Amino acid sequence: MFRKLAASALTAATLAATPAISAGGLGEITDYSFSFEGPFGTYDRNQLQRGLQVYHEVCASCHGLEYVAFRTLSDRNGPELPDDQMRAFADMYEIWDPELRDWRTATGPDHFPESQFEGAPDLSLMAKARIGFEGPYGLGLNQLFRGLGGAEYIASFLMGYTGEEEFQAGSMFYYNAAYDGWVSMAPVLFDDMVFYEDGTPATEEQMAKDVAAFLMWTAEPKLVERKRAGFVGVIFLSVLAALLYLSNKQLWAPVKRAAKED
Ligand code: HEC
Repeated sequence: MFRKLAASALTAATLAATPAISAGGLGEITDYSFSFEGPFGTYDRNQLQRGLQVYHEVCASCHGLEYVAFRTLSDRNGPELPDDQMRAFADMYEIWDPELRDWRTATGPDHFPESQFEGAPDLSLMAKARIGFEGPYGLGLNQLFRGLGGAEYIASFLMGYTGEEEFQAGSMFYYNAAYDGWVSMAPVLFDDMVFYEDGTPATEEQMAKDVAAFLMWTAEPKLVERKRAGFVGVIFLSVLAALLYLSNKQLWAPVKRAAKED
């Protein structure tokens, strides 16, 4: 029985390890590697700060982040902006205050504004909405070791323009290989369009990966804490299993001895 179970678990594990690149109707996704992949992966603070900069300078004119509060930019295991920088950052955004019935400057507890451009989706949870890449298949080992795939999708989407354009029903559409179809968002990243203070060269791919990592954090701000709690849980259960095994042995030892003597 045990051998049978072990065999089927092994088969399932092998099946799960086979990459399912074209899963979920997505197009060509590049398997970029990110620091937060794997059971012990953590966010790279500098990368999140660069990604925040790309979002702010390039994407924010169209896309909102309405589920993200400015103050969380200072959270541990996030971009970890010092308090004064976080406030200065919020200060650059105007939000609609329903009580004042007017626009005002944002402060720490406020959220980022909603999308400003018609048809541009909010990006707060995009990295989780597009996790099809590694697939919801098998035992989830791929997800555990290679991440959920949402960040890979976003980076590939930003890099996925082939240059084909089409004018249809009054608007322009651009072919995107990662989306595997035509989208109304034009390519937005070009080499050196932002200046990184930390000296990282701002290539198109670097910016795509940085903003994708940042958007993974907005969608999963507690990723690192959750992994740590899971790890503590596994250790706890292993110790508990060992103790149970030993006490079970000890409990039945007299009975076994008696059986042998008979
Ligand atoms: C000029 C406005 C504009 C800018 C700037 C812009 N986008 Fe978009 N974006 C759009 C629109 C419009 C769509 C919807 C496209 C569609 O569904 O055809 C979109 C869609 C998306 C999608 C969803 C793709 C999908 O799978 O449905 C992602 C992800 C995205 N944008 C990321 C970004 C990022 C990251 C940036 C900044 C680097 C950015 N966008 C900058 C307008 C913009």
